[in-house]
Order: sequence, then C-alpha cells, then structure tokens
Amino acid sequence: MHSLSVHTDGSAAEALQISQRLIQVGIALSSETDLQRLLALIVQQAKELTHCDRGSLFIRAGEELRFFVVSGDKQLQDLCIPLSASSIAGYVVLTGESLNLPDVYQLPTHVPYTFNRQVDQQTGYRTRSLLTVPMRDPSGQVMGALQLLNRLQPSHPTPLDPDQVVEWSQPFSELEARVAESLASQAAVAYQNVQLREELKSAHLETIFCLSLAAEYRDQDTSFHLKRMSNYSRIIAQAMGLSNREQELIFYASPMHDVGKIGIPDAILLKPGRFTPEERLIMNRHPEIGYEILSKSDSELMQKSAIIALTHHEKFDGSGYPRSLKGEEIPLEGRIVALADVFDALASRRPYKEAWDLVDIFRWVEENTGSHFDPQVVAAFNRGRSQILEIYHCYREPG
Ligand code: C2E
Ligand code: SIN
Ligand code: SIN
Ligand code: FE
Repeated sequence: MHSLSVHTDGSAAEALQISQRLIQVGIALSSETDLQRLLALIVQQAKELTHCDRGSLFIRAGEELRFFVVSGDKQLQDLCIPLSASSIAGYVVLTGESLNLPDVYQLPTHVPYTFNRQVDQQTGYRTRSLLTVPMRDPSGQVMGALQLLNRLQPSHPTPLDPDQVVEWSQPFSELEARVAESLASQAAVAYQNVQLREELKSAHLETIFCLSLAAEYRDQDTSFHLKRMSNYSRIIAQAMGLSNREQELIFYASPMHDVGKIGIPDAILLKPGRFTPEERLIMNRHPEIGYEILSKSDSELMQKSAIIALTHHEKFDGSGYPRSLKGEEIPLEGRIVALADVFDALASRRPYKEAWDLVDIFRWVEENTGSHFDPQVVAAFNRGRSQILEIYHCYREPG
C-alpha cells in the first residue's frame, strides 16, 4: 500500500482523506493471513497515519501482555510483561482508556502507572511523546494496546539520530489519538480472525494426523514413522525446488499415504513372516482403499493425499502397483513419497523384518535408482541428505 500522509489542519477535506485512508488500511489488514506480518502491518500503518517514529503492540495473553516492538519494518523483540495498571500499556488494557502523554519522563505525580525506562535503555532509545490506545474487539473486550512513540513533524529530516528524535518529538493531537483508536479496533478484528484461522488450521491438521496414526496403529505403535517420512518428503520436495506451498501440501498430505491399511485384515498386516502370493495381492489393495477414503473430500490437501495414497507403491520402471504407472505418469508427489516411505521402512523394524543399517539403505536406494525410484528424486534426496539424517536421529523410536 502506498503512503498517503494525513495533514491535520482540521478541515472537512482532511477528515474525508483520513476516513478513506482508514478504510484502505482496514481492507489491507483484513486480507493479511499471517500473524507476524499482520502485527508489523498494523504498526507500520499506525506510524504513517500519526507521523510517529516507532510503534509497538501489546497483545493480552491471560495475565500477561506480549510485547512486539516494530522499528522500521523490522521486528526487534518479542517479550512479556505482567498485566498490571502500573505500566502504561497495562493501564490502557485494564481500563480501556487511551493515554496521550506529551513526555513520559515527566508524568503527573498522582497517576498509577510509570514509564518503564528499561526498554529505552536496552534499545538506546529515548521516548518522549507516547500515545497508547486500546485494541478493542467488536464485543467491547480489550485484547491489547497499540503504542506509538515520538510524534514527529511531517517535515522532519531523515534519518534522525536518537537525540534529534527527542528534540523533534511533540505531543500527538486529539485527532491522531482518534485515528489511532479507530485503527486499533480494526486491528483487533483482523488479529482475532487470523488467530481463529490459525487455530482452525492446526486443529484440522492435528485431526488428520491423528486419523493417519489410527490407520497405522496396528502395525506401528508410534507416530515416529509418520513424522519422519513426512519430513523426508518435505526435504526432498524442497531440494527439488518445489514452491513453499507445494512443500507444505506434501508435508501434510504424506502421513495419510497408508490410510488404506485400515482395510487389510490383521492376519495379513500383522503376519510375522513373509507373505504368500495370495496375501501379497490382498495387501496390494491398500493404495486403492486409501484413495477411496481420501478422495471423497474436495480440499486440495485431501486431493493431494488421495493421489499420494494411490501412487506411493508405483515404481519408476513400471513394475509397481496398483496401476503399473511408469516414469512421469506417476505424479511427482507419489514418486517423492515412494522414496521417503521405503527409506523409512528399511530403517525400521517391522513384524516381518529387522531394521537395516544406514549404509545398506543408501546402497539399496542407489541400486534401485531408475528402477524403483525416480533418478531426479534420488538426486534431491542426496542433496538433502544432511537434513534427512538430522530427522532420522531426531525422531528415533524410544528404546
Ligand atoms: P512397509 O513395511 O511400510 O514397507 C513399505 C515399503 O518399503 C515396501 O513396500 C517395500 O518397498 C519397502 N520395504 C520394506 N521392507 C523391505 C524389505 O525388507 N526389503 C525390501 N527390499 N524392501 C522393503 P511393499 O513391499 O509394497 O509393502 C507394502 C506394505 O506391505 C509394507 O509396508 C508392509 O506393511 C506390508 N508387507 C510387505 N511385505 C510383507 C511381508 O512379507 N510380510 C508382512 N507381514 N508384511 C509385508
Ligand atoms: C493447507 O492447505 O495447508 C491445509 C488446509 C486445508 O486444506 O484444509
Ligand atoms: C506436481 O506436484 O508438481 C505435479 C504432480 C501432480 O500434481 O500431478
Ligand atoms: Fe504403503
């Protein structure tokens, strides 16, 4: 969003300009989906609208205030203070009143709050004028405070050194206080929306992970296999240069690859020895059973997981199952997960086999490149080898 300066001469034209600017800011805030970027955007916009030098945000978290300092476009710190009326931000959050203080080093004597000079000392900064406004959500609840430091003349020279900032610092006008309050309320709504969205997303992803675990529960008693193979899949996807979004989709979709094992009888799945050809045929139905289960949803993530479930046992030379797909007929995510899954299966103990040594596994992968595995996927796997070994060591089976 471009920067429009608001000149506070009190005219009707100016009031209109401010309203228009606030509407634009509201739209920008409501379309931001990342929490950290949203916080930075709120402070950035507040700074531009009130011509101040710095801004910070306090978000209420139980009996604490989480503190985000934003200077320029950079996030400097992330710390917590107790929620109490003895701090300026705490007072504003608890009372819901704005405080517009011309000089925080010369506060009136009878007030309950004091200015905490520690942050100034730590950052080598000097705060003089300070405007603190509540972030009020539509139900009237105060969920935090927006704090703006050192109102400057729009015509100030840039950059200013800390001594000059104090010299140029002047009180915020009443109009600027109202503008900041309005912005802070919009920010409260945007913040709650992003937070809700993130909660829903993580609840959704956790549900999926739990269901994947339920499907594996009979033949694997820990979640480590899923954690490892989904991380391996992401590392390979990253080393292949896929987009962040594609990497994330593969990461979240890959744990569902064996959901179809739910349809395989215990007598086969848990057989302590090698399969007979008949048992093998039954076991080989698990990719299609998984696809049947997962393809019922239209979500992009579930569609991806259905494709992975269906194709993770295809082999590059066409000798895999269920469709005997060959080369690039096999969707890329299926080729990636095939390697991640086999690498981890070989490294793990199963009812029918012991765990292999790493050297033997790497040799096996090498020997089966071009036959079982896509050479480009193997190349990416080799580029990501140090990250893969990190995951291998990090998610070890207990005992
Ligand atoms: P899984 O145990 O997770 O193994 C996944 C894939 O890793 C296997 O797919 C295979 O490509 C590779 N793999 C695992 N162990 C070995 C091994 O000892 N040697 C070699 N060369 N490759 C291995 P695959 O073969 O299509 O098997 C799919 C699933 O069927 C396996 O998943 C496992 O649950 C089951 N399974 C396969 N063979 C047997 C068996 O002989 N006995 C039992 N009880 N289950 C088996
Ligand atoms: C995602 O896209 O990463 C997960 C959200 C979903 O598809 O429900
Ligand atoms: C890809 O993942 O880039 C292509 C594979 C597919 O979605 O079929
Ligand atoms: Fe499988």
